[in-house]
Amino acid sequence: MSEPRLRVFPDPAALALAAAERIAVAALEAIRARGRFRLVLAGGETPRRTYEVLAGAAFAGRVDWPRVEFFWGDERCVPPNDARSNYRMAREALLDRIPVTPDNVHRIHGEDAPARAALAYERQLASVVPDLVLLGLGQDGHTASLFPGHAAVRERVRTVLAEYVREVSAWRVTMTPPMLNAGRAVLFLASGPGKAGALRLALEGSLPPALLPVKAVRPASGCLDWMVDLAAASGLARVTSVSTET
Ligand code: 6PG
Repeated sequence: MSEPRLRVFPDPAALALAAAERIAVAALEAIRARGRFRLVLAGGETPRRTYEVLAGAAFAGRVDWPRVEFFWGDERCVPPNDARSNYRMAREALLDRIPVTPDNVHRIHGEDAPARAALAYERQLASVVPDLVLLGLGQDGHTASLFPGHAAVRERVRTVLAEYVREVSAWRVTMTPPMLNAGRAVLFLASGPGKAGALRLALEGSLPPALLPVKAVRPASGCLDWMVDLAAASGLARVTSVSTET
């Protein structure tokens, strides 16, 4: 696989704007080529800011939302109206503010027994090739709900798994590397100084995926992008420029 592409933005607002632009362009291209855009959403603060920008006036009319299908890379095992739900976050930041086709919203049923929710989601994904997979980065190098030392990050066959994650004292359902790597493109978003160490390890370190799960994401398409802000990039040795345009 070729090296991931990295773009660094001055602050979280510039990052969110550029990420929204990237998603809008990917949607346009996918809808033009295949009549629909299959987008995998991530949880977390950085993705949430991007969803809010996408739902805002600057992007009104830019995306043919009824042709967009929404999936989730991971979910917390809570009901959909729980404050911790990734579905709820995406609904409030984006879905409630745009003209979605209800049948196109494929959430993970976090309210069900975790193993059952994982199996049901795996079946739903059976013939799905995502056009774009959005992912965040945790300070410990986790992404989606692939945590260091856990089984999901080493999974080679199942596309969705449920695991109890002791680090967050909760059950999670997560897409595994085989599913995330099937995406036509993957876009990581990271912002803030708290991510600097994990980003340095992800892009310049040599830890194996089992210890730094973000490294398990190597899409077969080779299309892997990182969009980060300056604070997150502050630990990198190889930043050559900061983007001022989306
Ligand atoms: C979740 C996630 C998780 C997240 C990262 C980054 O459900 O929490 O999917 O992988 O994307 O932890 O989150 P922040 O941007 O909030 O740091």
